[in-house]
Amino acid sequence: MTVKVLGLSGSPHRHGNTETLLDAFLVGAEEAGGETEKVILKDLSYTPCRGCNACHKTGECVVEDDAILLFDRILSVDCLAVSSPIYSMGITAELKGLIDRAQYLWARKFILKNLFFSNAHIVNHKGVFISTAGLSWDNVFDAAFPAVTAFFNTLGFEYYDNIIANDMDRYKGIRGHPTALGSAREKGGKVVGVIRISKRK
Ligand SMILES: Cc1cc2nc3c(=O)[nH]c(=O)nc-3n(C[C@H](O)[C@H](O)[C@H](O)COP(=O)(O)O)c2cc1C
Repeated sequence: MTVKVLGLSGSPHRHGNTETLLDAFLVGAEEAGGETEKVILKDLSYTPCRGCNACHKTGECVVEDDAILLFDRILSVDCLAVSSPIYSMGITAELKGLIDRAQYLWARKFILKNLFFSNAHIVNHKGVFISTAGLSWDNVFDAAFPAVTAFFNTLGFEYYDNIIANDMDRYKGIRGHPTALGSAREKGGKVVGVIRISKRK
């Protein structure tokens, strides 16, 4: 049974701490037999949400760009791994811009009521948030979680796990962290196994 895993890299910094952590997760997922794919958000072309609210009436976004194509891909996978470093105590502009563009799906669900994810669907679709931060503060990821929660809710994914590593300044990057990469790889394998079992039920 195929388990499709899509990783979104929300860092503008190629092959930096966060993308490296995402890569470790994807390696683990692939080792467990998952079909993996990675999308670099900064390489796509999409604008922020205009707030025109046209989607409240039509369920469609008036802006036709890469975001809409990406949402079609997102809705076809079993596991969505969303990654972003912490910038100014939140997620990056790349990721926040994409999350806002999901508003047309929110409108379909809650205004037009023509999009519905059953509990069985949500349980079979796992969302994982992957992040790194420079500071050692325990609460450094706190502002990121609500936006990611909203994203997974809108898209019909259960918010399954966080893979987060702070104190990057002290460790001098993710490769200096004693456990983060190994743990991310392990979690990638585990989530594929969990989805496989859950889809069989
Ligand atoms: C513009 C910018 C803002 C940042 N703001 C924060 C912050 O508010 N808190 C924090 O702990 N680290 C902050 N950092 C540090 C990054 O979160 C950290 O270096 C992260 O590991 C970078 O990941 P990357 O290599 O994937 O870009 C910031 C870095 C940049 C470039």
